[in-house]
Amino acid sequence: MKGLILSGGKGTRLRPLTYTGAKQLVPVANKPVLFYALEDLVEAGVTEIGIVISPETGEQVRHETGDGSRFGARITYILQAQPLGIAHAIKIAHDFIGADPFILFLGDNFIRGGIVPQVDAFRAQAMDAQIILYEMSDPSSMGVAVLDADGRVQRVVEKPKQFISPYAVIGIYMFGPSVFEAVNQIQPSARGELEITDTIQYLVNKGLNVRAHKLADAWVDTGRMGDMLEANRLVLDVMPGKIEGSVEDSLLEGRVILEAGARVIHSKIRGPAIIGKNTLVENAFVGPYTAIHHDCVVRNCEIEHSIVLENSQLENIGTRVADSLIGRNVCIQRAEGPAKTVHLMLGDFSQVGI
Ligand code: TTP
Repeated sequence: MKGLILSGGKGTRLRPLTYTGAKQLVPVANKPVLFYALEDLVEAGVTEIGIVISPETGEQVRHETGDGSRFGARITYILQAQPLGIAHAIKIAHDFIGADPFILFLGDNFIRGGIVPQVDAFRAQAMDAQIILYEMSDPSSMGVAVLDADGRVQRVVEKPKQFISPYAVIGIYMFGPSVFEAVNQIQPSARGELEITDTIQYLVNKGLNVRAHKLADAWVDTGRMGDMLEANRLVLDVMPGKIEGSVEDSLLEGRVILEAGARVIHSKIRGPAIIGKNTLVENAFVGPYTAIHHDCVVRNCEIEHSIVLENSQLENIGTRVADSLIGRNVCIQRAEGPAKTVHLMLGDFSQVGI
């Protein structure tokens, strides 16, 4: 069995971060979201992995992820010249996949608890495809599946206008070789993409055995800032504390991860929180569900429920930073004027005076 991770796309919903970086490399608890997908595949025994990349961010993904050896995997990169759809990405991966069954994992999807049960079920039964379903009260913004009494997939409808089922289709799929006929036969949708829902519906219409696995644990599509923060919360919620950095005249409450070289001076950190390598926290409060990446400075300020990417500086901010996603090399410093609440989504290299 092989793995295919999609790490191309446009990432318009995560602008401005995606002007300069791949959204799949935005860290969740200080680790790129893409790495969770890789680890999930390896944990399920899938080590031959293709990663679909775009011309814009492909080199970054390749640089961060390498040949896969540190994950115990072997990675092949597949360039998708244009983001022509998820099914298009399957199409161009045909040479890599060959006749093997494979797992398609959207590189911005995060699933807590891994994929071992789903992969075991797929391996144990003769299926042509398996989709994974997440029960939601309102799945109308998603692809939605309708099952028959036997658990077979009957229909998959993209963004249904009326309620047809509570089961949203998430971005992890398993296919046998019949999927290649489907992706070659379907036509581009109104938005000009080869759609994964049409691919699945094609297999269903052919009477093939398309099954569904209902997910018990949490799942997040990290397409937008709020979703990134949610994934960050989910990981930090179960991450054990570990102190590798230094602590001076400070209070650490709850589960705190201080990576090597991190320094906390005259500050309070209320976990769950993670402070990256060589980051300095001084005269500051870092509140729950905060992930600060490596080589940052957080001085004379308060921050909670936020993600800060590497090399950023937050200093002398009079109001608490909350619910924010702050890019790389960002500098936020105090400006003159009355103190007011701020709510930020800053791209890489932003400069803000507050
Ligand atoms: P999407 O989130 O559906 O699309 P996107 O990344 O272009 O984002 P946005 O809607 O904000 O513009 O893509 C899901 C995943 O699949 C994501 O990791 C990107 C990847 N992808 C490709 O690799 N190639 C493609 O042609 C498309 C559409 C997506």
